[in-house]
Amino acid sequence: GLNIDLSRPGPAISRHLWGQFFEDINQAADGGLYAELVKNRAFNENSTSIPGWSTLAQNATGSVSLDATQHAGAMARSLRMDVSNVNAGGSFGVVNGGYFGLKVVNGTTYTATVWAKSTTNSTLEVRLEDSSGTVLGRGTVNGVNGTWQKFTLPITASSGSGTGNRVVVAAQSAGTVWLQMVSLFPPTYKGRPNGLRTDLAEKVAALKPGLFRFPGGNFIEAANRATHWDWKKTVGDNIDRPGHFNSAWGYFSSDGLGIYEYLQYAEDIGAEPVLGIYAGLHLDGGNDILTESELAPYVQDALDALEYANGPTTSVWGAKRAAAGHPAPFNLKYLEIGNEDWLNNGASSYVQYRYRVFHDAIKARYPNVKLIATVRDSMNRTPDIIDDHYYLPTQTMLDFSHNYDNYPRTNTKIFVGEYASLGGTEPNRSASLAGAIGEAGFMTGLERNSDVVWGSAYAPLFQHLNNTQWEPDMIQFNAETSYVSPNYYVQQMFSSNTGTEVVPASFTSDVQNVFQSSSLNRQTGKLFVKVVNNNTVSKTLTLDLSSAAAVQASGSSIVLSSTNRAATNTLSQPNAIAPIAGSFTASKTFNYTFPANSVTVLTMNVT
Ligand code: AHR
Repeated sequence: GLNIDLSRPGPAISRHLWGQFFEDINQAADGGLYAELVKNRAFNENSTSIPGWSTLAQNATGSVSLDATQHAGAMARSLRMDVSNVNAGGSFGVVNGGYFGLKVVNGTTYTATVWAKSTTNSTLEVRLEDSSGTVLGRGTVNGVNGTWQKFTLPITASSGSGTGNRVVVAAQSAGTVWLQMVSLFPPTYKGRPNGLRTDLAEKVAALKPGLFRFPGGNFIEAANRATHWDWKKTVGDNIDRPGHFNSAWGYFSSDGLGIYEYLQYAEDIGAEPVLGIYAGLHLDGGNDILTESELAPYVQDALDALEYANGPTTSVWGAKRAAAGHPAPFNLKYLEIGNEDWLNNGASSYVQYRYRVFHDAIKARYPNVKLIATVRDSMNRTPDIIDDHYYLPTQTMLDFSHNYDNYPRTNTKIFVGEYASLGGTEPNRSASLAGAIGEAGFMTGLERNSDVVWGSAYAPLFQHLNNTQWEPDMIQFNAETSYVSPNYYVQQMFSSNTGTEVVPASFTSDVQNVFQSSSLNRQTGKLFVKVVNNNTVSKTLTLDLSSAAAVQASGSSIVLSSTNRAATNTLSQPNAIAPIAGSFTASKTFNYTFPANSVTVLTMNVT
């Protein structure tokens, strides 16, 4: 059975315990959470070709090329459109089909942005079309002339469905037109300008993350110094964000989802922001680790990031935040120095100087900011928190549910900043119920040890079904739709059902391969009992709550289970594995049968 001891107060549970981690991996930003619909919108993905774009000549002739002599803002080149002839009713233009499709919904108003200049005073048409050229919506750009201008226009779709659509920017008269930053946004999460795709943003919000770690992961450090994440190139108008090659994961990142958008999103979902910063290590490791004397500009970048997030509006960087629309500070309190610095020959430089240099400078200027280190041993400065990562086979993940049971209670607190169970048989690492069970078992250990586990974050959040580099992931999506994995439901079950303090509990010796954590919310009197049954048969346990003064009879349950451990959710069966809510009769001592392969949360009212 399971003895739950309400007579002994357990440790308080950190409000950051169940967090989430966003990395620009698996096309999670452009084509994903970032709502932009136009791929290669600023023609900066490639200096010699024009990915994402093609031409459309309708009763007209012309040609296009990249033009490095004409560009606006921080862009390196524009698209030059030489229109030689347009017959009556015709047009010559360029066409973009989005990131693996472009969704147009009837009745929706889109916001188009076009930067343009021209040799002649001219007019451009921006059209939404289906794949056969039927116009779904249109808008007109008037007054294009010899100076770069930004034009913003609403376009309402009067019909449209699916993702086989395109946006067309076309000239209706001869001449030369240069285009830059052709952007199209649907309505965004909370209506934020330059904002997020609603279905994806809502799915993360529904996890009620206690913290939000961003933007990587390997994305920050990249394969080499030239392509590390440089937050200063992710702020301001999009025309001032040149974008960069995401060398960790092999595709271009527009950086439209920049530090401001991340901080705004964390605030919007009520999550503590945890900003990861570049600390001089790259995935190619030993070939190019920054020396101590090279670190100064990057330390300054970290200090400036804090000023950008929190500084007064009169400060250089605080003013830029205010100009972007957020004069109030974001109250960024947690900075992670680097990522997985024990890898790629990084450990010795990290413990000798890389961490120290950042630590000393940041603590001197911002003593209240908490610093997270990625290496635990031999550090010559004591960080506030250590980031541990776990990607393990399911059984090992379950074994690790006891990993922090004996962690010295006064040692540096732990942030489990990435973890996922490699549920299937490797190399099949796809999300599955088996993996979700492994993670749930592991998470019971994080909860029971929340006096030393300050926070955690699953990783990674998102997987574009047309461009995946990493599995397992929690939220699957394409241009049309999104659904979640069993692993997501475990996160949601835990984050929605955790008390404010741990309740000491233990199994009797006959219980094998079952994991638990119990917690109590003192204010509401709700007791949450989480039980993970990793057995392929059901398990009936006697729950002993005799230490409670009273237990209300009506309890509620949420159960995630299947006879098929390999089961998962798919595009065609997005709800194959989903939690089922129910009720049960509780008392001071009662039996409950936990199904085979299950994760269960029982909620009871106790005094
Ligand atoms: O989440 C994928 C990768 O796993 C992260 O970029 C890295 O931190 C970890 O190794």
